[in-house]
Amino acid sequence: MTPHIESRDEDIADVVLMPGDPKRAELIASKYLDDAKLVNTVRGMNAYTGFYKGKRVTVFPSGMGIPSMGIYSYELFKFYNVSKIIRIGTVGGYLEDEKVFDVILADKSFSKSNYALDLSGSDSHIMEGSKALNEKIIEEAKREGIDLRVGNIYSTETFYDGGKNLDVMKNKYHCIGTEMESYALFANASYLNKEASAILTVSDNLVTKEEIDSSAREKSLDRMILLALNSIL
Ligand code: HPA
Repeated sequence: MTPHIESRDEDIADVVLMPGDPKRAELIASKYLDDAKLVNTVRGMNAYTGFYKGKRVTVFPSGMGIPSMGIYSYELFKFYNVSKIIRIGTVGGYLEDEKVFDVILADKSFSKSNYALDLSGSDSHIMEGSKALNEKIIEEAKREGIDLRVGNIYSTETFYDGGKNLDVMKNKYHCIGTEMESYALFANASYLNKEASAILTVSDNLVTKEEIDSSAREKSLDRMILLALNSIL
């Protein structure tokens, strides 16, 4: 037990998939997992442990933003001995040719956040995903015929930034999109010697203004969810 997770040690699998939204965690558990068991309800962050093709996996929501992802992924890595976390989320596209539903693997995450500084004293504003896990994901994407785009991501703390960060993040740091959680996940993984990756689906394009409508969201996330699940087998 931790201040935010009520699960018993044995309730949490070695590998965790982390969507942002608790409802998405429930959906993934009911649609893809066999024998799914509810293992956390604290703060409505309902988490499930079950089996995908015989592999034990936990689906645990991160909530939105660096602080929320920071808390849950830290506690899972540190106190539940989780070894791998794959974030599955959405991203706002920065490139004109990024279409909604496109799937992105976040290679490096840039942020102005002080999360890593406060965590470990590291003043690096760039955190990287696990190379080994990313390789598995890239390999699996090839097998599934998914045109996976690999690139840097801007992990912002300000959803409503009025587009102010787009030019500098895109041109100076070569970011191909923006989301709000991967920096904390990668910082925790690197601090605690664990593995983390972030697979993201383009939900909106900040240049073309194309957007996924909410009814299409569920279907569009299927490819990303299956990619994550098949990568951990
Ligand atoms: N900004 C930040 N996070 C996001 C966005 C965005 O435009 N789209 C999906 N996650």
